[in-house]
Amino acid sequence: MAGRFGMAWAVAAALAWVAAPAQAEIRASASIDARAEGVRIAPEIYGQFAEHLGTGIEDGIWVGEDSSIPNIRGFRRDVVEALRRLKVPVVRWPGGCFADIYRWRDGIGPRDRRPVTLNKWWGNAEERNRFGTHEFFDFAELIGAKTYLNVNVGTGTAGEAREWLEYVTSPSGSTLAQLRRAHGRERPWRVDYIGIGNEMWGCGGNLTAAEFAPLARRFATFLREEGGPRIIAGGATGDDHGWTEALVRDPRGFDAVSLHQYTLPTGDWTTKGAAVGFDEAAWAQTFQRTRRMEELIVGHDAVMDRHDAENRLALIVAEWGSWYDPTPGTNSAFLQQENSLRDALIAALNFAIFHRHADRVRMANIAQMVNVLQAMIHTRGERMVLTPTYHAFEMFTPFQGAQALPAQVTSPDYVVGDVSQPAVEVTAARDAAGAVHVALVNVDPDEEAIVSLALAGRGQAALSGRLLTAERMDSVNSFGAPETVRPVPFNGARWLGERLEVRLPAKSVVVLRVG
Ligand code: AHR
Repeated sequence: MAGRFGMAWAVAAALAWVAAPAQAEIRASASIDARAEGVRIAPEIYGQFAEHLGTGIEDGIWVGEDSSIPNIRGFRRDVVEALRRLKVPVVRWPGGCFADIYRWRDGIGPRDRRPVTLNKWWGNAEERNRFGTHEFFDFAELIGAKTYLNVNVGTGTAGEAREWLEYVTSPSGSTLAQLRRAHGRERPWRVDYIGIGNEMWGCGGNLTAAEFAPLARRFATFLREEGGPRIIAGGATGDDHGWTEALVRDPRGFDAVSLHQYTLPTGDWTTKGAAVGFDEAAWAQTFQRTRRMEELIVGHDAVMDRHDAENRLALIVAEWGSWYDPTPGTNSAFLQQENSLRDALIAALNFAIFHRHADRVRMANIAQMVNVLQAMIHTRGERMVLTPTYHAFEMFTPFQGAQALPAQVTSPDYVVGDVSQPAVEVTAARDAAGAVHVALVNVDPDEEAIVSLALAGRGQAALSGRLLTAERMDSVNSFGAPETVRPVPFNGARWLGERLEVRLPAKSVVVLRVG
């Protein structure tokens, strides 16, 4: 019943502008030049991250060929099909903190003979290594994604990393390439990106920036090859500009440095804040904290500019997303959390930030793909549910590879206590076929926003749109009611002369296609 009520409510919201009160409280405006020459939004900005952590891979992606759960060569069919619809551009694997304890040789060969290891970082869970190198590359091919291998620096060597790359990519008759063939893969795979270490200032080995920078260069020396993977040096967290500085002042061998930034409602790692059942103060605080991503990117970009004014090096936001207190009753080491409408808005706000900095930010990997943190998908046994975050990613697929169009936005503030931020966010891009896509977010949970949009070069063009909202700030898609939060057609935009008027429902994301 709850699911059906949710759907009827969403449809009513989609039609709301027809019956909206004449006097709305939020009036915002935006100006976009649809003819502008923008920076290309790298599709990889919509990238994903899958770590050996809890049920992120085992159960979430991999169930094995003998499972009663429908699968393709051991990969859950439902999850693979959902990810294909998402046009996942790239997947980062195998971690995360796990990367720096992962021995790649444990994950090749007959599955029933692979060792069982302990996942030190995530509850000492037994890792059966059933999802290893062949499974990762097979999975990436199945969903049509590029590959991002994060190699082990913490407990590994440059030699082991080099051998892994050879095993995966060599067309030669070397012993390692032959071993790959003996394990069933004749043709080499492509590694698109290599990450050197993960959080080397923490779980990667508690190194200082001065210790890590030369180590990263040494790894890069042995992993770099003509036409080979782009090399990403394991980067900073938050505003640790000194870490970025240490890497980019002598970036020999690197194509990029990474950045990790999570959104905790409270900002406190001991009590992060509830995933659902939160109040409006937490709602507002969460968005204010997630918007910090912009100042962090600007800060790291400024450091990079000093050494690389040409933007040769990319900034890769290799881990981002919400991090809440774990779902009660679950293993806290498995980082399972509910995913609500709030998470969809978090995703949309971050996409807008990444678009604005697309000249430097050329990949981002949300943490994580399935069942962990701000996941796209939740699974339980044979059931699967798509989260509000999934829907945000899916609605933004037209932005992948499109030209970002700068938007000048004027919005009143949404104020809760001492937390104040713009109520309305707008981002736009032009795709290869010339259509313009405009995404709008209204973070006010109660008030509709009327946005007046000047879209130079597009007056009166054909319009279509989709809306994501829900009855409550913390509405979720549960296994019992999987369609409570889902996109519906949006009819709240119309041309008023040369301007577009968009009636943006409270707490919503809208993506319009113009022309
Ligand atoms: O995504 C979960 C963990 O968060 C990753 O393993 C680690 O890199 C980060 O601290």
